Amino acid sequence: MDYIITTEGLTKKYKTFISVNDCSLHIRKGTIYGFLGPNGAGKSTTMKMLLGLTAPTKGRFTIDGRRFPEDRLAILKEIGSFIESPSFYANLTGRENLDIIRRILGLPKDSVDDALELVGLTEFGNRLAKKYSLGMKQRLGLAGALLGRPPILILDEPTNGLDPSGIHEIRILIKSLPGLYNCTIMISSHMLSEVELMADDIGILNHGRLLFEGTLDDLRQNTRKAGMSADHKLIENQLEDVFLAMIEQDNAARKQRAKL
Ligand SMILES: Nc1ncnc2c1ncn2[C@@H]1O[C@H](COP(=O)(O)OP(=O)(O)OP(=O)(O)O)[C@@H](O)[C@H]1O
Ligand SMILES: [Mg+2]
Repeated sequence: MDYIITTEGLTKKYKTFISVNDCSLHIRKGTIYGFLGPNGAGKSTTMKMLLGLTAPTKGRFTIDGRRFPEDRLAILKEIGSFIESPSFYANLTGRENLDIIRRILGLPKDSVDDALELVGLTEFGNRLAKKYSLGMKQRLGLAGALLGRPPILILDEPTNGLDPSGIHEIRILIKSLPGLYNCTIMISSHMLSEVELMADDIGILNHGRLLFEGTLDDLRQNTRKAGMSADHKLIENQLEDVFLAMIEQDNAARKQRAKL
């Protein structure tokens, strides 16, 4: 299998608290990988480690054949990222904000217009960032990640705060990117229903541990095995239930272990 990102036993410990626990991910090149888990599961922490924003306590990872930490800079050059809520210079326009990132990355001038167009912000490029709506700010964050069309995108809840049509538009955009320029996307969310509409593969994290990794079809198979329903339509609807049941089961097992 042609994996572009693999992690081996990736672990992050804050004092005594384990935020990410022995996490081994496998992300296929040219696909969309949905990274799921409830609040506090460790999604952002994992992504921050991949971006070199926080150091792993244990474990290692490889991105496009390059190893962390030896090739940290080369890795960073290949990744466009959107982590939590990106911040911008409020008194600069959207275009000016992107231009600052563009210059830091040493990209050609027209990459700003390209990114604005990709996220549908062309007509608002000259508006001050402080006058952007929440959805426009999310789009600007996404444009920042897309500058120079990097081969890998790491997007942490990019549809957070968007209205339903905004979520739909961003989803269509994200879904189109691998076909548009052959990139690989890792995207986090706590909504399986949202991710299943765009992801090829998914990883489910709970309390820092990877509970499941595989294709949506694998998860559907699990649903069938669990005897949730023989009816295909119902299975579709119950995928979210399986996801929630998986988390609940893990939480219950955890409580049981804690009691012993
Ligand atoms: N700097 C830090 N110091 C101590 N604990 C931290 C730190 N950063 C994160 N954590 C803890 O690590 C756990 C995982 O946090 P993380 O932000 O990775 O979760 P998440 O899956 O992204 O959640 P959400 O869906 O709410 O964004 C949480 O319990 C969080 O409080
Ligand atoms: Mg997070």
